[in-house]
Amino acid sequence: MQIFKQIAEIKNYLRTEQRNGKSIGFVPTMGYLHEGHLSLIRRSASENDITVVSIFVNPTQFGPGEDFEKYPRDLNRDIQLAQEAGAHVIFTPDTVTIYPEGYKTYVEVQKITDTLCGASRPGHFRGVTTVVTKLFNIIHPDRAYFGQKDAQQGIVIRQMVRDLDMDLEIIVCPIVREADGLAMSSRNIYLNPEERKQAVVLFQSLTMAKDLIVQGEKNAYKIKAAIEKKISEKSLAKIDYVSIVDMETLRDIRQITNKTLIALAVRFGETRLIDNIIVEV
Ligand code: PAF
Repeated sequence: MQIFKQIAEIKNYLRTEQRNGKSIGFVPTMGYLHEGHLSLIRRSASENDITVVSIFVNPTQFGPGEDFEKYPRDLNRDIQLAQEAGAHVIFTPDTVTIYPEGYKTYVEVQKITDTLCGASRPGHFRGVTTVVTKLFNIIHPDRAYFGQKDAQQGIVIRQMVRDLDMDLEIIVCPIVREADGLAMSSRNIYLNPEERKQAVVLFQSLTMAKDLIVQGEKNAYKIKAAIEKKISEKSLAKIDYVSIVDMETLRDIRQITNKTLIALAVRFGETRLIDNIIVEV
């Protein structure tokens, strides 16, 4: 296991491996790894010669008043878990390494970053696409792995890769859930026991939506209203958004089609959780 903090050093190491014909899989993370991350690392390890995991809590994707400072961090545990899952290289730079004094360049994908999480977290995706571009430039992966839980992030990154002719494959892997259905997230740790109990309503409301669609309901407004009603029954839940959108444009749709994403964000106290399903009809 190799651990790097400096850009020049990891570049040097990986370029040598690439010259030797090794393929590189990359799993970008903000650390505090859970089964969702580990499933990405395992997938990468099964498809590439070398798997690189970055652990970097990226300040530019957090808005003012968001949880950048208190975002959970446990580097030693992360290194051990990543290694057990099959990672060969960890990149864990300091903030000044990624954003040195005088840093001025940002990457922005337009339109599809204005909806869903982009509407409630202005500037968030600009921070994500900027850091992901930097990491891609440092690592030069053949494949990069992202989780479906951040559905919009995956769509935005695919668009960026297409638009900027980046030479790698983006692979989005299924959501990993707790036994009761709550999507795994580093932020679940913020939930108090009662919030944690009620948070399962995200998955339950999406499952209900899926059932309604299977039973023949195709009207997106009715499905959205049913989801909102179910979530509102939980005393601690505060809906940020429930959106039923086209998978590519991320624009609201009226009728469910084969390319529909149902995505939601709900707050429990200070904690904002997201979840989604892709509808196949
Ligand atoms: O999904 C995340 O954890 C982050 O947005 C990412 C892709 C690591 C960029 O900081």
